[in-house]
Amino acid sequence: MSVSFRGFVTINHVPFSCLLLKALKIHPISQRFASTKTLKETLQEVIPAKQEQFKRLKSEHSQKVIGDIKIENVIGGMRGLKSMLWEASVLDPNEGIRFHGLSIPDCQRQLPPAPGGKEIIAESMLWLLLTGNVPTEAETRKLSLELAENGDLPAYVEKLIDGLSPSMHPMTQLAIGVAALNHDSVFQKAYESGIKKTDYWTYTLEDCLSLIARLPALAARIYRNVYKQGATAPPINKDLDLVGNYTALMGYGANKDLTEYLRLYISIHGDHEGGNASAHTAHLVGSTLADPYLAYSAALFALAGPLHGLANQEVLRWQLAMQKELGDNTTHENIKDYLWKTLKSGQVVPGYGHGVLRKSDPRFIALQEFCDSRPELLKSPTIQLVKKTYEVAPGVLTEHGKTKNPWPNVDATSGCVLYHYGLTEFKYYTVIFGVSRALGALTQLVWARALGLPLERPKSVSMDTLQAIVGKNA
Ligand SMILES: CC(C)(COP(=O)(O)OP(=O)(O)OC[C@H]1O[C@@H](n2cnc3c(N)ncnc32)[C@H](O)[C@@H]1OP(=O)(O)O)[C@@H](O)C(=O)NCCC(=O)NCCS
Repeated sequence: MSVSFRGFVTINHVPFSCLLLKALKIHPISQRFASTKTLKETLQEVIPAKQEQFKRLKSEHSQKVIGDIKIENVIGGMRGLKSMLWEASVLDPNEGIRFHGLSIPDCQRQLPPAPGGKEIIAESMLWLLLTGNVPTEAETRKLSLELAENGDLPAYVEKLIDGLSPSMHPMTQLAIGVAALNHDSVFQKAYESGIKKTDYWTYTLEDCLSLIARLPALAARIYRNVYKQGATAPPINKDLDLVGNYTALMGYGANKDLTEYLRLYISIHGDHEGGNASAHTAHLVGSTLADPYLAYSAALFALAGPLHGLANQEVLRWQLAMQKELGDNTTHENIKDYLWKTLKSGQVVPGYGHGVLRKSDPRFIALQEFCDSRPELLKSPTIQLVKKTYEVAPGVLTEHGKTKNPWPNVDATSGCVLYHYGLTEFKYYTVIFGVSRALGALTQLVWARALGLPLERPKSVSMDTLQAIVGKNA
């Protein structure tokens, strides 16, 4: 099928008027992909084998020991404890993230981009996360269309968000909006009416896709209310991908480079295994059989903490303060001094360190490569400062000797690129992260229901209990 000028499309070489197709309720693009499988059909094929694997692990290997629990794990934020199941991605301390075995460069080579674009898009990443398969271009486009068709916010959420004070942090607004969408939860309604446990995942999937579809409109509405005096947004464009629509709804549709950057950022940031605070929160709340809206709203509150998602706004604040003090084209020596000043004042160097990673974050590398491919970004004094900081910070942090990982994480660069492209409101950056992380957290919710994972309920102990264990062993 091809789309021609003046409202005609050709299907199998026969011209049809767009108006005629509309009257017949046939969207030209859905027609184009009529023969491709949907995400749900693909999942229906993939799930039985995983269920079988899960059943065997449970019945044949339940008692196998896979690690020790030390007191350092209990009092050290459960670092390193292998204690939760997460299907979509695995994080290796040295290699970084892999999505169903694919590294970020593998994904960049294999996942379909947007038409006319180069970068991975959210839809192809979501497909990979959910099914473990690389989607075809047609499957990706069909998913884009499905999301765009369901992307409008219900009027009650628009009213709720418009009623919030613009001085309320955008992350609080996002979490409120996501929680309110549970008014429409099909999982919740089906559960109340009494459905089989084996059907939970299908209703959960429907809610998850509906939430992902509506996130751009919700997040963009918050942006316009807080920073653009409630400027009117264009309608959702059914020919665009999720992120293409997101940037258009924010008012940056004409900036193709920003859109490409956000496509990359939102895709590669979409999942980072299960133990991080927001993913873990979504999983915990979801394990109570709360619907996906409530589970993801809770996750967003975890993401709003400065040691987690808020770090990207902190990096930019810190980077701009350094730039102001040192000026453009500063030296490595000056940056070193500034780093020591930060550390001696008892603060962390934002954008460096990680709970699991022990090398430079491949997401940081991918975003740096994006900058390297665009001369105008390389000329930006803020991005030059990010690069120079990277050249000295690992040495300073190693000498400082506290952090287990002196290397940069993704946040060391993410906000600076947004800033360069004119998206300068850095309090908003964690909202973009929140749009992205829905891909992974909601994927796991579908799998948790498909596998019938139980209510999460670890055992806590008191210090006296630990003392008693230590005493007994001594
Ligand atoms: C990400 C982060 C929260 C991980 O925390 P963690 O797993 O406890 O990290 P570590 O085990 O390496 O911490 C050991 C010590 O090093 C310190 N440390 C870690 N990263 C540091 C940094 N970037 N600058 C200075 N000190 C740091 C910790 O504060 C801790 O100090 P303490 O013993 O006095 O409490 C931490 O590295 C950090 O605060 N980084 C800066 C914020 C950031 O970039 N967050 C985004 C994460 S994607």
